[in-house]
Amino acid sequence: MSQFLLEASDVSHSFDYTLFTDIDFTLAAYESAAIVGRSGSGKSTLLHIFSTFMKPDEGKVTLFGKDLYTLDDDEIEALRRYDVGIIFQFHYLFKGMSAMDNIEVASMLSGEVIEDTILEKLEIKELMSKKVGELSGGQQQRVSIARVLSKKPRIIFADEPTGNLDKETAELVMDVLLDYTKETGAALLLVTHDASMATRCDKTYRLEDKVLKEEA
Ligand SMILES: Nc1ncnc2c1ncn2[C@@H]1O[C@H](COP(=O)(O)OP(=O)(O)OP(=O)(O)O)[C@@H](O)[C@H]1O
Ligand SMILES: [Mg+2]
Repeated sequence: MSQFLLEASDVSHSFDYTLFTDIDFTLAAYESAAIVGRSGSGKSTLLHIFSTFMKPDEGKVTLFGKDLYTLDDDEIEALRRYDVGIIFQFHYLFKGMSAMDNIEVASMLSGEVIEDTILEKLEIKELMSKKVGELSGGQQQRVSIARVLSKKPRIIFADEPTGNLDKETAELVMDVLLDYTKETGAALLLVTHDASMATRCDKTYRLEDKVLKEEA
């Protein structure tokens, strides 16, 4: 079996215009990578493709050695439920439920439990009984990150996870994500506009002129 958790080859996609062509990409266990690039260059689209949520016009994507486009719906569903963690650019929480209930829904589905230390590190442990609608944007963002980690994914896709956080809180979120990969052997693929967050990853790639290039 391949040493890579994620392997993509010759991935191309267009909407109104060609976003990218012939993208090759790999991500190994314990590895963290950042993708940077202009707004509209296709970063979120690429993340949706790598994380099973979109099929590209062309190309092959393999997660944990499984070719995504040969799997049936149940197999894709199992990957999403147990193995793939996605932190979306816009977080999706149930606003009328408490922070804890939101996390428990996710952990129930995957049969895992959230560790208190993660809640402590994200500085949201004291907020767990509050309704999500009563939390600030940055607090909600950290709850949604805890929600994703609670299912113990083998690979994490994070789209601007620190987008609306102050510098100090953003660093804290990066600490939690990078510590998680180190402790569990999971991989992290991060989309960010913040160069200081990108440099904390093992590698940085730039999506520009329809191609993905590793930065020196
Ligand atoms: N489902 C869709 N249908 C049609 N066009 C889409 C769709 N999703 C994205 N696009 C278009 O594809 C382009 C790239 O969008 P994408 O969200 O991937 O960019 P991005 O690099 O993540 O930008 P940002 O940094 O602003 O988040 C945009 O022009 C967008 O309008
Ligand atoms: Mg985006």
